[in-house]
Amino acid sequence: MTTPLAAAQAAYDELAALGLKLNLQRGQPSDADFDLSDALLTAVTPGETTMDGVDLRNYPGGVAGLPSARALFGRYLGLDAANVVVWNNSSLELQALVLGFALLHGLPGSTGGWVHDRPKIVVTTPGYDRHFLMLTTLGFELISVGMEPDGPDVAAIEAAAADPAVRGVLFVPTYSNPGGETISAEKAARLAEMVTAAADFTIFADDAYRVHHLGQPDAAVNFVELCAAAGHPDRAFAFGSTSKITFASGGLGFVGTSAANVAWLSRLLSAQSIGPNKVEQARHVRFLAGYPGGLDGLMRAHAALIAPKFAAVDEVLSTELGTDGSYATWTTPRGGYFSSLFTTAPVAARVVELADAAGVSLTPAGATYPGGVDPDNRNIRLAPTRPPLDEVRTAMTVAAACVRLATEEYRAR
Ligand SMILES: Cc1ncc(COP(=O)(O)O)c(C=O)c1O
Repeated sequence: MTTPLAAAQAAYDELAALGLKLNLQRGQPSDADFDLSDALLTAVTPGETTMDGVDLRNYPGGVAGLPSARALFGRYLGLDAANVVVWNNSSLELQALVLGFALLHGLPGSTGGWVHDRPKIVVTTPGYDRHFLMLTTLGFELISVGMEPDGPDVAAIEAAAADPAVRGVLFVPTYSNPGGETISAEKAARLAEMVTAAADFTIFADDAYRVHHLGQPDAAVNFVELCAAAGHPDRAFAFGSTSKITFASGGLGFVGTSAANVAWLSRLLSAQSIGPNKVEQARHVRFLAGYPGGLDGLMRAHAALIAPKFAAVDEVLSTELGTDGSYATWTTPRGGYFSSLFTTAPVAARVVELADAAGVSLTPAGATYPGGVDPDNRNIRLAPTRPPLDEVRTAMTVAAACVRLATEEYRAR
C-alpha cells in the first residue's frame, strides 16, 4: 500500500523532473504592469519646462516638492497638499530619513535625539523584511507584535508603549506585506488615542498599498487626521510611493504628516539637499492626470492584471492542499502584493528548500520575521505579481507539492 509520504514524494519527483525555473519571491510588478506607464517616459516634453510657475530644470522650487505633486499625493493619503512632502524614488529611503532625523535630532515634540535612549520600535510579524533591516541598521531594538486579520495586535502595542524607550510603531495599514490585512477603524482609533510612556511615540504608517485594490476597496485609515482628532496632532507619519503604480525604479516616495512635522522634515531635508527631482514629479503629475480615469483608472488596469494571479494562488492551493488546514492555511488578500502561507507543521524552511530543488524560487523562510528567523518555522510569503499567470499556476502547484511532501516527511519522523 502506498503511504502518504511515498505518494507525496512521487508527486514531487514528477514535478521536479520538469526542469522548471520559476521565481515567486520578488514583490515586483510584471512587465505588463510597467507597460501601462510607459507614457511616463515622455510625459514632459521639450518646451514644457515649468510647472506651477516653477522652473523644472533649476534648483529653486522648495524642498517639500512641486505644489501639484504634493496635491496629487495628498489626494492619495487623504490630506491637504500642505501636509505632504514629495521626495525621490523610494518611500523606504524617506522612512529611513525621517527615522534617522528622529534618532539624531528628535521629532518636534522630543526632548532630544532618540539615539541617546537606546530606542525601541514596534513592528508587526509576519512583516516586511526591509523594514526590519532598515530599523536594525539604524540601531533600533525591534519589539514584534502579531498581525491579525483586522490589523496589528493593538493590545500588545499598548503594552509595549508603557516602556518610554519604545518610540513608535512601523507597520503597513492597508493590504499589509505579507498577509494583505487592513487595519480596522476601531484598532486605528485605539492607536491614535493610546496612552504612551514616551510623549513623542509615533505611528509610522507605511501605506505602500493604499490604492492597490484587487476588487471592492477596503476603507483605508487616515492616521494623520485621526491622531489630530485624538489630541496627538504630531503622532503620525503616513508614507506611500508610486513604485507599484508606475515604475519601481523611477517613481516617487512621499509622506503625509502634521504641519509642524512637515516644517521639521523640510528644515532637515534642506540641510542635505536643495530639493527633490522636480522633473520626475512633473512627469508623474502630467502622466497620472492624462491617464484615463486618473490614478484610479491606472489602479483598475493593474488590478485586471494582478487579481487573476491571486485567484490562481488560492485556487491551486485549495485544490492541491484542501481547505481544512491539515497541510496549510493562507491569506486571500483583497489588495496589495502578497499572500501569506502558514504550514500546519513547522516545515516552512523545508518547503522552500524542496521548491528550490524543483526549480521554483520562493521567498526565504524566516524573511518575514526580524533577523530572518521565524520562531515557528511556518510562514512563507507568496509574491505572484511578477510572473505571467501560467507560471504562477505552475509555481503554486510545485509549492503545494512541497508543502505536502515536507508535511508528510515531518509526520513520518
Ligand atoms: C510595505 C512596503 N513598503 C515599501 C516598499 C518599497 O517601497 P519603495 O520602492 O517606495 O521604497 C515595499 C516594497 O515591496 C513594501 O512592500
